[in-house]
Amino acid sequence: MKGPVVVLTGAGISAESGVPTFRGPDGLWRSFRPEELATPEAFARDPLLVWEWYDWRRQRIAACQPNPAHRVLAEMESVLPDFTLITQNVDGLHQAAGSRRVLELHGNIWRVRCTRCGQTREDRRVPLPELPPRCACGGLLRPDVVWFGEPLPAPVLEAAWEAAARCRWMLVIGTSALVQPAASLPIVAHRNGARLVEVNISDTPLTPLAEEVLRGPAAEILPRWWAARNPQKQVAGSRRQEA
Ligand code: OAD
Repeated sequence: MKGPVVVLTGAGISAESGVPTFRGPDGLWRSFRPEELATPEAFARDPLLVWEWYDWRRQRIAACQPNPAHRVLAEMESVLPDFTLITQNVDGLHQAAGSRRVLELHGNIWRVRCTRCGQTREDRRVPLPELPPRCACGGLLRPDVVWFGEPLPAPVLEAAWEAAARCRWMLVIGTSALVQPAASLPIVAHRNGARLVEVNISDTPLTPLAEEVLRGPAAEILPRWWAARNPQKQVAGSRRQEA
């Protein structure tokens, strides 16, 4: 793979780790209504309800481990000279797999942010001892994630646009490509001449633009795809077997 490589991930990459997706047959948005749980209005109306839902999701994610697809991306970061990982996921599994630079478009479920003083900090306690949690300043804390109707963190989005506009390859893994602005990043990359590779168990609006469509679970497909493009790794692997 020559030239800058960008990877955009969505909930599907964490599916085999046991993290629920949003829009699949068992997706979260099948049993929960986003407008009751993932909007600033919902939080203003009923912070306890919103926090109970996030506390439940945090407990589920805490029981999950990164899978081989997350690990391949961490390896790609360490060997490719120009590599950018952009994720819509808030689960932190890329970092748990060893990825060091992750552009988190939708925030991180392990961070909290004060609605009064604006401070953010990591809080990995599960379950949280007090719901809704409060800041040292007395303000109400919220999950540091992006809710429907909210802008994405500007520096993160800018870095993502810039990387998408100049990449030669973009891998789009496990996203329904329905949520903006994330869904536009592969379109920008494609318009600027990048080769799109889609890894997904089903078709998405991006499928017609992709030069390579890899159908199946990311945790199986991605390690195979990467090994096929990385002969050094295959040689090293076979040497290890011979020894
Ligand atoms: P979705 O739940 O919308 O889509 C998950 C995608 O992953 C679908 O296209 C599935 O076909 C695919 N998929 C499922 N299992 C897979 C597997 N094992 N391997 C590969 N692909 C698989 O999730 P996102 O596209 O990430 O936003 O959703 C985007 C945003 O919508 C989320 O970040 C969240 C949500 O509302 C916020 O919370 C702001």
